[in-house]
Amino acid sequence: MIYLDNSATTQPKKEVLDAFVKASEQFYANPASLHVMGNQAEDLLESARSQLKELLNMDRIVFTSGGTEANNLALIGTAKSYQHRGKHIVTAATEHPSVLNSLAALEQQGFEVTRLPVGHHGEIDVDELKNSLRSDTILVSLMHVNNEIGTIHPISEIARLLKKRRIIFHVDAVQSIGKLAFDPSSMPDLLSVSGHKVHGLKGSGLLAYSGVELQAIQYGGGQESGIRGGTVSVPNAVALAKALRLAKPNPLHLQWNKTLRQFFSEFDGVKIVSPEGAAPHILAVAVKGIKGEILVSGLQKESIIVSTSSACSSKSRDTSHVIQAIGLPREFKDGVMRISFGAFTTEQDISALQSAFQRVYRIIKGV
Ligand SMILES: Cc1ncc(COP(=O)(O)O)c(C=O)c1O
Repeated sequence: MIYLDNSATTQPKKEVLDAFVKASEQFYANPASLHVMGNQAEDLLESARSQLKELLNMDRIVFTSGGTEANNLALIGTAKSYQHRGKHIVTAATEHPSVLNSLAALEQQGFEVTRLPVGHHGEIDVDELKNSLRSDTILVSLMHVNNEIGTIHPISEIARLLKKRRIIFHVDAVQSIGKLAFDPSSMPDLLSVSGHKVHGLKGSGLLAYSGVELQAIQYGGGQESGIRGGTVSVPNAVALAKALRLAKPNPLHLQWNKTLRQFFSEFDGVKIVSPEGAAPHILAVAVKGIKGEILVSGLQKESIIVSTSSACSSKSRDTSHVIQAIGLPREFKDGVMRISFGAFTTEQDISALQSAFQRVYRIIKGV
């Protein structure tokens, strides 16, 4: 099978698995225990934390179970801490469900949420964002890269803007970390990361932050400075540090993305959904009048694994909220498939996808 669904999850790298196994075998003691083995586990945990702080250019790291938990903690933890300043939060309509649903829960508790609309390319209007800010706005939450179509939000520009207004900025970097460069001079205040999207492990992630105080949303024995109760998984932390140290942008992704954009644009009734300038590892395309599921299963028969717009929404029958928000014409709405590259993707995989798509297209269209 040729795996081109790396935005849903990635294959763990061997080095990451080795780091996990070694830490599990040798440093299995509870890092909160007072004995020598506990101290050794704690040292390893803190060394992983230090590496990650340095890599991400952030002052503090809380280890989480993944991107969803990091987003929950960032939003609810900040809202609880800063509600004395105001109860207004700004986000965009195309954010991940872990952000949108955390904010919906906050609305139930009296917070007010502005969801910025997006244009046909999934882009927000920065002036509209500026106009949405109020004296009681405490937080803005935006993703760096959209998981379904790859749109990049201008987070450095927004970070600068919000810093001047002293509004906290959270960025869901799950789809961008290790793939796009960050401008270290204008980092957001909070950053969510997931291990399994960067050839790390499922069930691992972190929230990195600087200059912000968070309140706990999960209570336990005071671990992670009281912010996230529960025994910390030292092997997960070590494996995450390893995965992020190994992750780096791959210039070939841009080349393959261009090749595929050109390739798909030559088919009658095929629309490139991802905008020009989107993240190079994600390409969403749609075939007029054909359901995404038909394309996915047709390609699967050819041993190519791609997905409909996102893994989270692919099992639901509804059109994804991102596809709805960008106003894709009706005849394309149900036909979106997402191709996403990872560190193990090769030139041969791209050629195989092209040949397979030609065959599937001919069958579907009867040409
Ligand atoms: C942009 C984005 N944020 C958050 C998440 C959730 O991450 P996790 O699967 O680690 O909970 C995902 C996963 O699809 C994502 O794509």
